Amino acid sequence: MTVIVSELEEARTLLREAIDQANKIVAFTGAGLSTECGVPDFRSKNSPWLRYKPIEFDLFMSDVLMREEAWRRKFALDDIYGRAEPGRGHYALANLIASGKMAAIVTQNIDNLQQMSGVAEEHIIELHGNGTYATCVKCGLRYELNEIRRAFDATGAAPDCPACGGPIKAATVSFGQPMPEEPMRRALAVTADCDLFLAIGSSLVVYPAASFPSLARQHGARLVILNGEQTPLDDVADLVLRGDIGDILQPFAS
Ligand code: APR
Repeated sequence: MTVIVSELEEARTLLREAIDQANKIVAFTGAGLSTECGVPDFRSKNSPWLRYKPIEFDLFMSDVLMREEAWRRKFALDDIYGRAEPGRGHYALANLIASGKMAAIVTQNIDNLQQMSGVAEEHIIELHGNGTYATCVKCGLRYELNEIRRAFDATGAAPDCPACGGPIKAATVSFGQPMPEEPMRRALAVTADCDLFLAIGSSLVVYPAASFPSLARQHGARLVILNGEQTPLDDVADLVLRGDIGDILQPFAS
C-alpha cells in the first residue's frame, strides 16, 4: 500500500524516519535534483532540451553534419547552465554519504553537480555519463571542453581524435548508445544490496535507468520516491513524497 504525502513537514518527518531506520541507502537521482540550480530538466513544457533535442548516437556517428549540429546544441545548452552550482539536494546527499548511511548515488544527471558538492567519484555512479568533458568514441581518450570549444568556434568543424582519428563526443550517453558497462554493473550491485532506495527528481520513464527502483524493491529495499509530479512507479513505492525536492531535503543539507 503506497503512502503519498504532499505536506512539507510531514514529508520531511517521514523521510527522516526512513533514513534513521535504514542501514544502507542508495539515492537514484534525475534532473529534478538540479533544476533549482538553473539546470533545466528534460520534459517540463518549456525545457530547452525540447529546442536543442539530443542527436541519436547512430546519426552522430554516421553524419559529420549531425556531429557539427550536436556540438552546436551542446555548447548552446552549456551556455544556459554551464556555470550552475550544487543545490540543497546535492548537499543533502553529500551529507548522507559523509554520514556513512548512504553507500552510493546512482545518477542519470550529466551536470557534475554531485561531484561539485564534494562527493567522491567512488560514491557516484553516472548511468548517462558526464557532460563536462569529452572523449574519443573509438579509443576513449579524454579531452577538455574548453580546448574543443575554442577549435569548434574557430572552424565549426566537429573534432576528431588526433591519436586515432575517431570522432570526439561529449562524455554523455546518447539515445541509441550502449549503456556504460562498469556504471551499470556498479549500479546493479548497490541497488541489490541496499535497504532504502531514494528515487529523487526523475520522471522514471527512461529505461534501463528507470528499472533500478523496481529492482531495489524486488531485493527487499524500501522504495521512497521524491518528485514534484506523479511517476509511473508511484504505485510500486512504499512512500511517495510529493513536493519541491530542495524544500523536502533542506533539513538534511545543513
Ligand atoms: N522539485 C521536485 N520535482 C522536480 C523539481 C523540483 N524542484 N524540478 C523538476 N522536478 C521533476 C519534474 O516534474 C520531473 O518529473 O523532476 C522530474 C524530471 O524528469 P525528467 O525531466 O524526465 O528528467 P529525468 O527523469 O532525469 O530524465 C531521465 O531522460 O532525456 C533523458 O538522459 C536524459 O537522464 C535523462 C533521462
